[in-house]
Formats: sequence, structure tokens, C-alpha cells
Amino acid sequence: MSVDVPASRELAGIAELAARATGDRLRTAFRSRPEVDLKRDIHDPVTVHDRAAEETIREVLAEHTPGSVVVGEEGGVGGGDGGDGDLRWFVDPIDGTANFAVGLPFFCVSIGAAMGGELVAGVVYDPVRDDMFTASLGGATCNGEPIHSRGATRDENAVLVTGYPNAREMHRRGEESLRSFGSLVNAFATVRRPGSAALTLAHVAAGWADVAYGTSVNAWDVAAAVLLVRQAGGTYLPLDGEPGGSDWEAPGYLACVGGFDLGGSAIAEVAGLVNAGEPA
Ligand code: IPD
Ligand code: CA
Ligand code: CA
Repeated sequence: MSVDVPASRELAGIAELAARATGDRLRTAFRSRPEVDLKRDIHDPVTVHDRAAEETIREVLAEHTPGSVVVGEEGGVGGGDGGDGDLRWFVDPIDGTANFAVGLPFFCVSIGAAMGGELVAGVVYDPVRDDMFTASLGGATCNGEPIHSRGATRDENAVLVTGYPNAREMHRRGEESLRSFGSLVNAFATVRRPGSAALTLAHVAAGWADVAYGTSVNAWDVAAAVLLVRQAGGTYLPLDGEPGGSDWEAPGYLACVGGFDLGGSAIAEVAGLVNAGEPA
């Protein structure tokens, strides 16, 4: 089933409703130092607010798109019992939980929608600043105003935002990943590690950061942001995905503002694009 622009805008509006419904809870809980549980390891925190926010989002999505499938970070796969069964929502109730849990104001709610193998809508909501980034097949906006992914064209003028290297890379590639990180610190004007893939990508979409690189992400981290970056005129390259897999299911990404010289960038080598012979 294909989705036209009005239907895509409608889905984006539903995602906005669902994201906003978590706003009061997240703002109230923020800087209360909530208790932290660990999932896979010490680098993977979760709070009661992650789970409660996802519940809220699921309720809103079920009310407005009955029968759609929801793939959520905390609750797994749910729904899909008829109705809009081809519609899949990818939900990260808090992207940047480590920041949220201590009181650093860089986290967001991320909700993306796919239908027939295509991304059709997505929102990234920053409840601290009350910034709503919205993507539909009709374009990308922040708080209703169109956004354009434009900025630096070369490393020496650019701000790179990345979580690289994370603990997994350190385990896999040890010192080599630190050397790669060093090459980025030298090549780029500025390198930052703010800790939310979705919000970082939304900032690239808005032209508030130039380049973003990440590894070890899940569909709920990036589904909304892939559409945001592309609809805003930026570039999103999935990395290390399965052949024939969806872009938002690939575990890595390299994104940049439109017009950035990726081929001449130090990040191309670190991301493995140079050896793969792309980009041109
Ligand atoms: C994490 C953040 C982080 C990224 C990780 C994600 P979470 O999500 O987006 O920036 O580097 O790969 O898992 O755990 O805060 O939802
Ligand atoms: Ca996440
Ligand atoms: Ca999360």
C-alpha cells in the first residue's frame, strides 16, 4: 500500500500527538535523578520513565491507527491485529537516556512510521526545548517551520557529532578506534559527543550540526531521523546493513548536510566508505 503526501502528513500529526503526550512526564521527571536500571551492560541504562513514556505513545498510536504494528525499544513488537497492519511504528521513548537520567538536557522522543517498505512519517521531539521536528513526504519542519539541511562543506569548517568510539568498538578495535577518533578530532573544526543519535540527526536536518556518524543503532533510534534528514535535503547513508535491508535497520549511519564534501572528509575513511569505493 502506498502513502500519498496528505496521508503521510496525517501520520506525522499522529506521531506528534504521541510524542507530545509524553512531554509533561519527561519534563517533570527530568533532573529528579530517577533510579537507573541496566539492560545489556553498564552502558545501557533505563528508567521507569522510559517504560511509562513508551506506554503512553503506544496508547496514542493504537487509538489513532488501530491494528498498526509498534516496534518499541522497551516493549518490543506489539499490535498488528488487523486494521492498519502494514503500518509499522518505530518508537524510542527516550533517546539519550543516560543524559535524561543525570540531568543533561540532550534527549528526545523518536517515532518513525514505515509502510510498504518505505518511511512515510517521523518525529523527533525535544521536550526540554519543546522542539518538534517533523518529517512527512511533504517535507521537514521544526515547530511548523521548514528546515533545510545546509551548513559547512568541508571538515575544517564543520562540526562532527558522534558517539564513536563506543565501548563495543573499543572492545573490537581497541587502540585503532582511538587513533581513528584522533584523526577526526584533528580534521574537523569541532567534534562533539552529546549522546542522542535521533536528536543529533534532527540537528543535522536543521543545519545546526554538519555531520553525524554513529554505529550500533536500532531502527527506533533512526527511523524518524532518516526521513527528517532526507526531506530537509541532507544525506543519510546507512552503514553495515544486510543486503536488501531497510536503511533504518542498518546498524550504522553517516549523515551530513546537503553539499558537504563527504568524499574529501576524514569521516569517509573511518566509516569505511573510502575502501568500499564510495562516495565519489
Ligand atoms: C542510544 C543513544 C546514543 C547512541 C546509542 C543508542 P538510548 O540510545 O542514541 O547516542 O550512540 O547507540 O543506543 O539507549 O539512549 O535510547
Ligand atoms: Ca535510543
Ligand atoms: Ca531509548
